[in-house]
Amino acid sequence: MTICRTIEEMRAQVRDWRQAGLRVGLVPTMGYLHEGHMSLVDLAAQRAERVVLSIYVNPTQFGPGEDLDKYPRDFARDEALCRQRGVQALFYPESRAMYAPSHSTWVVVEGLTETLCGRSRPGHFRGVSTVVTKLFNIVQPDVAVFGRKDAQQVLVIQRLVRDLDQPVEVVVAPIVREADGLAMSSRNTYLSADERRRAVCISQALQDAADGYAGGELDACRLRAGVTARIQAGGGRVDYVECVSRDTLQAVTRVDQPALLAVAAFFGKTRLIDNVYLG
Ligand code: PAJ
Repeated sequence: MTICRTIEEMRAQVRDWRQAGLRVGLVPTMGYLHEGHMSLVDLAAQRAERVVLSIYVNPTQFGPGEDLDKYPRDFARDEALCRQRGVQALFYPESRAMYAPSHSTWVVVEGLTETLCGRSRPGHFRGVSTVVTKLFNIVQPDVAVFGRKDAQQVLVIQRLVRDLDQPVEVVVAPIVREADGLAMSSRNTYLSADERRRAVCISQALQDAADGYAGGELDACRLRAGVTARIQAGGGRVDYVECVSRDTLQAVTRVDQPALLAVAAFFGKTRLIDNVYLG
């Protein structure tokens, strides 16, 4: 496994592979890897002969007062996991290598980013779209894999790839969960033992809603109210519970088309997100 610390090193590696006719897959991450991330590596390896995993805690997607400085980091552990899983190259740029001091170009996807996490975290998706565009330009992957855990992020990236004619196939991976159902996340490490026990109510609430939907409940308001009540009963502070169209992310009142039921909730200071598809 090669570790590339500069854009030039990364480009040179990919150039060698391309000359040998090998397809390249990219898994963008912010590190502190868990099985959710590693499942993306497996998918990338099915689609490409060489897999690049990037680790970069992207400052531009964090708002003021968010957890940029304390975002968990453990490069040695991440490196070992990547070796075990057969990643061929780690792109681990130094922070200053990614943004010039006078950086002033942004990729803004309109229409999909004003709701859900975009509403709670202004500027977040501008940072995500910009860094993902930069990673695509640096690595020039044939395929890139993203997790449905961040369902809005997936839509935003699919849109930017289409709108900007990026020559990359976006592959979407299912949500990987802990044994009790909590969606895996690097941020779960912030939870105290008590918060961790209680946080399981998010996935339980979503599962209840999915069961209700399967049993014929199509009223978005009632589905959302059930999720909110369950999370509040578990001691969580709800940021949003939304039922939206899976294509446009616009709120729906009746689930008579494929919908996304998405949640963000705080347990202590930790903001967790999760979602489930209805239909
Ligand atoms: P990060 O939160 O590290 O997540 C990296 C990728 O792993 C994302 O595509 C995310 O959806 C996926 N992922 C995280 N937890 C998952 C789980 N439990 N199951 C399946 N996939 C999961 O998302 C980011 O980083 C950043 O915004 C990034 C795209 C790297 C841009 O900075």
